[in-house]
Amino acid sequence: MDESALRDFGAAGIILSGGPESVVADHPLVALPAVFELGVPVLGICYGMQAMAKQLGGAVEAGAEREFGYAQVSVVADCPLLTGFADSHDEQDRPLLDVWMSHGDRVVRVPPGFCAVGATDNAPVAVMADEARRFYGLQFHPEVTHTRQGKHMLARFVHDICGCGTAWTPANIIDDALTRVRAQVGEERVVLALSGGVDSSVAAALLHRAIGKQLHCIFVDHGLLRLHEGDEVMATFARHMGVSVKRVDAQERFMSALAGVTDPEEKRKIIGRLFVEIFEEEACKLSAGEMGRQGMGTIRFLAQGTIYPDVIESAGSVTGKAHVIKSHHNVGGLPQRMNMELVEPLRELFKDEVRTLGIELGLAREMVCRHPFPGPGLGVRILGEVRLQYAHTLRLADAIFLQELRNAGWYDRVSQAFAVYLPVYSVGVMGDQRCYEHVIALRAVETVDFMTAHWAHLPYELLERLSTRIINEVAGVSRVVYDISGKPPATIEWE
Ligand code: XMP
Repeated sequence: MDESALRDFGAAGIILSGGPESVVADHPLVALPAVFELGVPVLGICYGMQAMAKQLGGAVEAGAEREFGYAQVSVVADCPLLTGFADSHDEQDRPLLDVWMSHGDRVVRVPPGFCAVGATDNAPVAVMADEARRFYGLQFHPEVTHTRQGKHMLARFVHDICGCGTAWTPANIIDDALTRVRAQVGEERVVLALSGGVDSSVAAALLHRAIGKQLHCIFVDHGLLRLHEGDEVMATFARHMGVSVKRVDAQERFMSALAGVTDPEEKRKIIGRLFVEIFEEEACKLSAGEMGRQGMGTIRFLAQGTIYPDVIESAGSVTGKAHVIKSHHNVGGLPQRMNMELVEPLRELFKDEVRTLGIELGLAREMVCRHPFPGPGLGVRILGEVRLQYAHTLRLADAIFLQELRNAGWYDRVSQAFAVYLPVYSVGVMGDQRCYEHVIALRAVETVDFMTAHWAHLPYELLERLSTRIINEVAGVSRVVYDISGKPPATIEWE
């Protein structure tokens, strides 16, 4: 956005977000000077705070140690952004806030007019404020769920400090999306790549409500789904939604394309590319069929269940500004290749908002509250080369994991749980015989936004039952391990 667009936009306030760059680097990204001249409140978060500090005359230095994860901020001065928020108190009864940090550089001197409002052990200025200008800086991330008061801080900034109202309700989002979709596609037909996951299901429900029979779903079954998943997707959609879905069984094509490939990004790209090819073939058939039958033109619109974290984590390939963590194939080359226009009604929403929307749209709870499943499926949960036999073994172990979680009442208490196939051999002893077989890792995480996550503290008895059942019931597995890594630094999927 250039300066005049910014001035014309008429923002009630501005948030400068975080980012992976460093303000002490040679050519740092800077905020437009107009940001600080418009007379509206400004909130800088992490990199945004550092840029604000540097541009307004403070000092930022590269920290000797990077700070990742949990930190505690001591609030040392009054600040309307934080008034009334505390997770605990220190001996002098000053508020302490539990926050999530992810930074290397730090502000060491606040700019003129600012005062330091909060500090952590590693960041002498973890919060800064200039009350007169209503400029605020937070070194930690209020937008992630592990900053316990973060949501309240953002609400305080947006509603109380900037004076914005509250129009972002599920009903309003749906109305808005319906209007936008109808305006975008008119009488035209739309194809949607349905995976059976939460995002594409909610997108399908929304589009079905918006345009009814103009929606055509194609379900490319790559053979890397969970046990019975393909059948369940078809049954669920036929039963609950009355949407006609074409299922394409493409397991063999995917398996032969993946043979011998071990690199995670390459695997993702192959799966993504093949998915695109097959989807494209089917969409062309659909277009040709429509033309023949009803005299309709080629299908021009492609709908996807892209959600906001997909957009952020794939942003590097689009803007070059954020770093690519993983190439999420659902944002990839499909529309350009097919020369189709994208319809992405969930693009600005986080997962928890998508679920709320799904329930508001009347989808079955079992569908909406399913754990997310990545587009490349078991392809990124079989480390290294993907083989049919490995997929089969993993499916069985995964099904036992999910079944036991449900039985123990833990399925809904965790946000995502799955088994991972490790292509290493481990010695075991079964039936008095030495065995030398593969290892299954189990991962269960708690998160709301999937940008950060804690590993779930499953009870030992449950872990023990899981390990016994998987080793006894799944041939080719001699050991089960449980993953205790948080995100960051680990990602949720292993690849
Ligand atoms: P990570 O592993 O990046 O996962 O921490 C965050 C969330 O995204 C899901 N995920 C994907 N979803 N295509 C998808 O549609 C992908 O390529 C992909 N990779 C990861 C992951 O399951 C988790 O919910």
